[in-house]
Amino acid sequence: MTPKISVIGIGYLGAVHAASMAELGHDVIGLDVDPERVAALQAGRAPFHEPGFDELLRRGLASGRLRFTTDYADLAGAEVHFLGLGTPQRADGMGADLSHLRTAVAALAAVLPARDGADTLVVGKSTVPVGTSRELAETLEQVAGVRLMWNPEFLREGFAVQDTLTPDRLVYGIPDPGVRDQRVEMLDAIYAPLLEAGVTRLVMGYEAAELVKVSANAFLATKISFINAVSEMCEATGADVTDVARALGMDDRIGSKFLRAGVGYGGGCLPKDLRAFLASAEEHGVGEALGFLREVDAVNERRRTRVVTLAEEMLGELAGRRITVLGAAFKPDSDDVRDSPALDVAARLLEAGADVRVTDPEALAGATRRLGPERVVAGTTAALHGAELVVLLTEWREYRDLDPAATSELVEAPRMIDGRNVLDPRDWAEAGWEIRSLGRAP
Ligand code: UGA
Repeated sequence: MTPKISVIGIGYLGAVHAASMAELGHDVIGLDVDPERVAALQAGRAPFHEPGFDELLRRGLASGRLRFTTDYADLAGAEVHFLGLGTPQRADGMGADLSHLRTAVAALAAVLPARDGADTLVVGKSTVPVGTSRELAETLEQVAGVRLMWNPEFLREGFAVQDTLTPDRLVYGIPDPGVRDQRVEMLDAIYAPLLEAGVTRLVMGYEAAELVKVSANAFLATKISFINAVSEMCEATGADVTDVARALGMDDRIGSKFLRAGVGYGGGCLPKDLRAFLASAEEHGVGEALGFLREVDAVNERRRTRVVTLAEEMLGELAGRRITVLGAAFKPDSDDVRDSPALDVAARLLEAGADVRVTDPEALAGATRRLGPERVVAGTTAALHGAELVVLLTEWREYRDLDPAATSELVEAPRMIDGRNVLDPRDWAEAGWEIRSLGRAP
């Protein structure tokens, strides 16, 4: 079988994209330089926790439309190549590391045949600083007939399959949106079922497409930090931030999503993309315009410190005190612990000398890597046993549904910090708990 599509880089984004494209009926080959990842996916094992992905993967493999490789030579026959490589934060803390992307593009260019007549399309999906598409296009267009588009991905972890197959919109970046471009029809043919289902696609210049993605994530981070800044004001004045957020969100112009106050945002995207956007703005001489993003980052950081201060207010000295942290993943329905607020707070409590236990329904492996096995406990009941303070930092359903009376039987002392504002403080107080929340005065 000659694949029609290749997906280079089958991490989170790439693997979901590859399986989704097979689901749309295309013949797809996914490539990664990590042989273990390739072997796992080829054997139908998902290397991450994502609702709906396992079925999609197995269906793709069983249909014969989906396979995986480590060898770039296997990609040569495909007509469309998606780039799903990661763009991690650079070691200096600012800016995106584009080395994986550049290496992959060079390796791809080396195997692509020069074609007469039929074009080969390369489609970037990674989150990149503005200007990257034009740079990569130069490398690729040295091979006759090879053209680049930028088609940023907006999927959320936990909803990755749904977001890929029913996106809010498709963004196509091309070098010159003022002229008719065959690339648009080629990508339309790949996404035909989505377009037929009514998904809007927007064609724009490379730079605009790159900026849509980074500004979307910066906006989401700003919205979260906005409500978290208001929650500092609430704590100082006795207001309840959940009341404020609920009423604010009913204004259509504001909207209720991403107004959940708490310990703030984490994950592999929002924190790093915000810093990369700032670094890129500075490189382009407009650092001042986006300087407020530094404050967005600082508000987010302060919420983590605030949990530690609250713990001190409740326990006095932290050294030797038994604290249970509920949650390790950066958000529920994910096993991802990259820049996880929960693990960061757990590490800070440990540094302060507390005897910390962390639990999570899915992210125990990640928690163990970060904190060591002696700090990680499987199962909520076991983790709560003997706690003098419980700190809820990832709002898994299981934690939201905890019964205050039953939970108080398990702990040493009924003290709770609700770092996500998901528990009803009255219910918990009535059951004898001392409960504090981020954004609600005691
Ligand atoms: C984010 C974006 O939402 C996606 O659109 C984007 O495609 C993705 O990054 C990416 O660039 O790949 P994701 O990192 O999966 O997706 O997670 P989000 O659902 O955005 O949550 C990010 C963080 O914000 C989590 O730690 C979450 O707990 C926190 N959050 C979210 C809040 O603290 N309050 C809220 O109201 C919402």
